[in-house]
Amino acid sequence: MNLIKKILVAPATVLALWAVTAQAMTDDAITERLKPVGQVCVMGEECKGVGAVAVAAGGAARTADDIIAKHCGACHTPGILGAPKIGDTAAWKERADAQGGLDGILAKAISGINAMPAKGTCADCSDDELRGAIQKMSGL
Ligand code: HEC
Repeated sequence: MNLIKKILVAPATVLALWAVTAQAMTDDAITERLKPVGQVCVMGEECKGVGAVAVAAGGAARTADDIIAKHCGACHTPGILGAPKIGDTAAWKERADAQGGLDGILAKAISGINAMPAKGTCADCSDDELRGAIQKMSGL
């Protein structure tokens, strides 16, 4: 490599390293900002505004109503695509009876069935949260 090339390559390497470092710093900063606020609250200790914080962090303080409003209602309120309507207990009961009870339709809600997407689009919902939402919507 001749001298001219070396002179040109050296700054390019420095620049590339700088770019990588700058990117890493940015990623760290983003990760820091993305951290759920709830992490600063320790279970069992008093935590100011814990309800709001836990909801913001998608934590356990989500109620069945929250989940229904955010995930299930879009289809189950109007009953689109053949979805059983909220409050139409008879329609839900018919399905539950056909699937061997609440656990049966819960299993279908988890796996998805026809136009009903897996977990009703609530990917981070626990089985218990889904069960709560189903009970609330169905009245079963
Ligand atoms: C994109 C629309 C859509 C969303 C969002 C949705 N569902 Fe559904 N759901 C359906 C449809 C359509 C069916 C009927 C599927 C069929 O039997 O063909 C259904 C059926 C069900 C059933 C009955 C399953 C069975 O075995 O008959 C349960 C339980 C259920 N949904 C729970 C939920 C829950 C809980 C949520 C929210 C977390 C949710 N769904 C969100 C469309 C939706």
